[in-house]
Amino acid sequence: MNGKNILLAVSGGIAVYKAVALTSKLTQAGANVKVMMTKSAQEFVPPLSFQVLSRNDVYTDTFDEKDSGVVAHINLADWADLVIVAPATANVIGKMANGIADDMVTTTLLATEAPIWVAPAMNVHMIAHPAVVRNINQLYADGVRFIEPSEGYLACGYVGRGRLEEPERIVGHLTAYFTEKNTTLAGRKVVITAGATIEKLDPVRYFTNHSTGKMGFAVAETAARYGAEVVLVTSSTKLPVPHGVAVHYIETAQEMYDEVMKHQDSADIFVMSAAVADYTPKVIHEHKIKKQPGDFAIEMVRTKDILAEIGQNKRDTQVVIGFAAETQNVKENALKKLHSKNADMIVANNVAQIGAGFGVDTNQVTFYGHDDAETVFPLLSKQEVAREIIEQAARFLEEK
Ligand code: PMT
Repeated sequence: MNGKNILLAVSGGIAVYKAVALTSKLTQAGANVKVMMTKSAQEFVPPLSFQVLSRNDVYTDTFDEKDSGVVAHINLADWADLVIVAPATANVIGKMANGIADDMVTTTLLATEAPIWVAPAMNVHMIAHPAVVRNINQLYADGVRFIEPSEGYLACGYVGRGRLEEPERIVGHLTAYFTEKNTTLAGRKVVITAGATIEKLDPVRYFTNHSTGKMGFAVAETAARYGAEVVLVTSSTKLPVPHGVAVHYIETAQEMYDEVMKHQDSADIFVMSAAVADYTPKVIHEHKIKKQPGDFAIEMVRTKDILAEIGQNKRDTQVVIGFAAETQNVKENALKKLHSKNADMIVANNVAQIGAGFGVDTNQVTFYGHDDAETVFPLLSKQEVAREIIEQAARFLEEK
């Protein structure tokens, strides 16, 4: 954190008092801290507390230009190496997700090109409200990073998820972000598959599944941050491509196979997180199939198993990591895949579990590695899961 310019955006909730402690901890860690506050944040704690602890002016009003030589919100936006919104209320999250800029905080958030982190704090029902979930998902898709709220006693009297993460843990996340820009995988090539495949039946119909690509994109982003050359093979066109990642868009399992195989010899690490169709229609009809009386059967043929082929042909120096999306007998099925596909590790997730698997921003995984070693993780953000996967891949690579 030494010498990093951290812009802390404080929005109004009882957890503002924790933002005061956060300011102190960030400055103690060596960061230059500037604070901006919404009007409602100032109802809880006066700007003076932040000014004293940050040893900088506090920004509360877009029209209060402290220095006539610059435009304050643009200057602040450009100054920041990282912006952290803590606590982030449902209101400020909603404005961010919809591009609303009606005060100092939201205007600066729109103007900055620095990475934005959001640490939500709100009532347990508010954070689960479909509108808030929708806004959080939008921000994830826009590349915003989240520090998940913890569970516990909330100021409103409820006990549940919604507490602002403790200041020292927020500092830990931000420190890890800066130190993760490391060179652990410099000179290495990582090939990642992500998202669903699309198997056409006729010009209007196809077979696919619920995978959005979020898990694989998080792995790609992390691998790039670790200094690797990253190739991402995916059908997911809606997610932002992480910085430094070469993406190859495909649709079918066959196209994914063809693209991955181009890197069979040159890659050091393979992470196969895609949900690849096991079957594809035997015939792709040139014209739309017309409905007829009676039932209709579609003949399907097996697709190639990309992970199995990469695993079975891998050199001793290559690391191959697969996933197992299961709904029952998770351990047994994951171990079967580990052996049959000759992978170094299988990341197993029970996709029937709430908060895990398809579409969501979190995942609960278990690693099955060499000698069937089992490592169980709690529910984590997909970014955190990605970090664990890349760290483990780097360890395997070192051992080889
Ligand atoms: O994309 P998200 O919405 O973020 O969701 C993430 C996820 C649930 C898709 C992800 O966490 C996950 O579990 N990915 C694997 C999905 C899957 O298809 O698993 P599987 O058990 O059917 O396949 C086992 C492994 O073989 C996987 O690594 C798969 O990529 C690979 N495979 C499967 C079939 C095939 N023809 N070729 C393959 O390479």
